[in-house]
Amino acid sequence: MVNFKEEIAALKAKGLQRKMRFIASANDRYITLDGKKVLNLCSNNYLGLANDRRLEKAAISAIKKFGIASGASRLVSGSTVLHRELEKKLARFKKQEAALVYTSGYSANLGIISSIVGRGDIVFSDRLNHASIIDGIILSRAELVRYPHKDIEALDKLLNRPPAPAAAGSSRVPRQKKLIITDSVFSMDGDIAPIPELLRLAEKYDCLLMIDEAHATGVLGKNGRGALEHFGIKANERIIQMGTLSKALGGLGGFVCGSGELIDYLVNRSRSFIFSTSLPAALCASALKVIEIIEKDGALRQRLKENANFLRRGLKDMGFDTLDSKDTAIIPVLTKEPKLTMEFSRRLFTEGIFVQGIRPPTVSEGLCRLRITVMATHTKKDLEFTLAKFKELGTDTNSLNLTGGISVCP
Ligand SMILES: Cc1ncc(COP(=O)(O)O)c(C=O)c1O
Repeated sequence: MVNFKEEIAALKAKGLQRKMRFIASANDRYITLDGKKVLNLCSNNYLGLANDRRLEKAAISAIKKFGIASGASRLVSGSTVLHRELEKKLARFKKQEAALVYTSGYSANLGIISSIVGRGDIVFSDRLNHASIIDGIILSRAELVRYPHKDIEALDKLLNRPPAPAAAGSSRVPRQKKLIITDSVFSMDGDIAPIPELLRLAEKYDCLLMIDEAHATGVLGKNGRGALEHFGIKANERIIQMGTLSKALGGLGGFVCGSGELIDYLVNRSRSFIFSTSLPAALCASALKVIEIIEKDGALRQRLKENANFLRRGLKDMGFDTLDSKDTAIIPVLTKEPKLTMEFSRRLFTEGIFVQGIRPPTVSEGLCRLRITVMATHTKKDLEFTLAKFKELGTDTNSLNLTGGISVCP
């Protein structure tokens, strides 16, 4: 039998035990966490819209009309006209032919990947891709080949490798499909995937290219459409865009955009779509409203960009290692060691700032970090206060014992 107590004790000894914390306020610039009001630098609500009155109004009026829950999966009886409207709007927003909504980004990745590839196929996945992508690949039973982070040359070599010959007498199906898959914005590193080069390789080796737009939608591109707009790439049949409504879009739910045929196929084959109760109509209503806001109002995105640049620049100038993060709302501060990371996070909390420490298995051993996420609604004062506290704590080498831990200039 598994001894859960021992398993937890082992995690604790390594500084890897996780505990839930509880928020008693709306998801905003400031939150009340474990009874304390703190500056929130730990939310993917990048545009600050999760608590927007316009979204709230849209959701409440949908609840009044459609009720709280949808009562069944989409193909049974859980599809409302709002689902249809949202899918049309998402497809238009992402400049693709069609879209399909899931109940979360996690479930979208599982359902998309496991239905478009299977045994005998091969998936090339960036080493830093999100866990939901890895889980989708494992579920699909396709071969998983992880390429070094953003390393186009290494990926080219891997794609060029001849397939291993089938063993004599083996009934193995010859490889059929090749899929390259990447986060557009890496969730823990805040850097951007080299999408144009990946697309070039996808064309060269006749692969599908799937991009996970979780942290790019609403953030990247002139109109917030994501990484393709950021790089000036036109959507085409080779590209599958997955995304989530739960981050800059301030709601909940996942989605995929692509060709009409792809969406028809997923409706028929994607198990996490077929066998799960559908997203409540209220969340479709708030998503419809948020896309309307994002399309009309570029000011929020501009403020987000300015805030993130200001904070990143300030941290860098103090000597903190923010890895390759750039142009996104995610700023990692490398702390390397788990106990030290959590101690830094605890001290920040004491000072009134909530920044979560990130440890294995979310990141590799030795690469623990504080993951800061910036919001458009943070004020200059909030960010200056944050920089002052990082300076105070990060250079307090005696009491924090940061030697060999946080990369900070003396
Ligand atoms: C890159 C990436 N993909 C997918 C997901 C899953 O999305 P959701 O939170 O909507 O389930 C996340 C969530 O953190 C993510 O960071």
